[in-house]
Amino acid sequence: MLMRYPKRLRLAQLPTPIEQALRASATLGVNLFIKRDDLTGSVLSGNKVRKLEFALAEAVRQKADVVITAGGIQSNHCRATAIACARLGLECHLILRGAPPSAPQGNLLLDLMAGARLSFFPREVYSTKKPEIVGTLIEEYARAGKRAYYIPVGASNAIGSLGYVLAFEEICRQTERLNINVRHIVTAVGSGGTLAGLLAGKLLSKRRRPEIWGINVCDDAPTFVLEVKRILEEMNDRFSTRFQTEKISVNVLDGYVGKGYAIPYHEEMDAIMQLAQTEGIVLDPVYTGKAFYGLTREITAGRFGRNDTVLFLHTGGVFGLMAQGPFFSSYWKKCVKMRY
Ligand SMILES: Cc1ncc(COP(=O)(O)O)c(C=O)c1O
Repeated sequence: MLMRYPKRLRLAQLPTPIEQALRASATLGVNLFIKRDDLTGSVLSGNKVRKLEFALAEAVRQKADVVITAGGIQSNHCRATAIACARLGLECHLILRGAPPSAPQGNLLLDLMAGARLSFFPREVYSTKKPEIVGTLIEEYARAGKRAYYIPVGASNAIGSLGYVLAFEEICRQTERLNINVRHIVTAVGSGGTLAGLLAGKLLSKRRRPEIWGINVCDDAPTFVLEVKRILEEMNDRFSTRFQTEKISVNVLDGYVGKGYAIPYHEEMDAIMQLAQTEGIVLDPVYTGKAFYGLTREITAGRFGRNDTVLFLHTGGVFGLMAQGPFFSSYWKKCVKMRY
């Protein structure tokens, strides 16, 4: 064990498999393996479940009645929290960014089915006033005699990120058993907790390899370098780790956001379609699609050497994908033929 972990709940189906992507490897010129964290469960799936095992255990320890968290309308993290709360008999209140659509789809449909309370806020209000909104909700619940536990966006804090310290241990055990010498691990970065956890795991293990890489799907590299270091420092404060953040280098590969968060682009969509058709592995346009496209470009640019073994972390996102049919319209038009 890399550290003394606080107690966690068992919510994820672990260990998730590591699969070799033979046809994609041949096309890309690296030895590609995929860690299937999209398979941590069914509706309770994706990378957030590992973080919630620790965060919700803390909520239960603190005797919370209600869990509050926040995210975009198609947030995978909010959906996973809503479903996990339903499993645990906790109330869940989601603070969502943007106006409610006329009908719920994808993650939002699952939020509704799990019985979460949904509060929608215009984008500007959400981005500038979230701390006040959270504070007001916590007070309102307290007045009603209920204890609230707040999980920040993406559960990307010290406690949530422990899920990926443990995932790093899981990866090391599996790759040793499978006799795979992984040189690089690559993951999408949306709020930083997954990358911070993997990096913390590597630092605690004192291994030189694998190198851990994040590909950001919003904001920019300097923002996430700072955020990952902030999370590592929070781990120092809470769990007595001793990360010397001024000496740590955090690898974030920028350049694959496109026009912005959750706005897909043509080359990314082609990469998603190709992986689905050659490997039967489905990525999403918001997180894993951008990260995987970034990985293919970085291979072409020579960052990952020919025949290096690369482990791509599939962090989930399939329910968000279900709300994004219109982005696939050009493929649809080519595919559809009427027959008489
Ligand atoms: C499917 C998926 N992949 C990757 C990420 C990024 O993980 P993190 O927020 O820990 O950076 C998220 C959430 O932001 C996600 O929902």
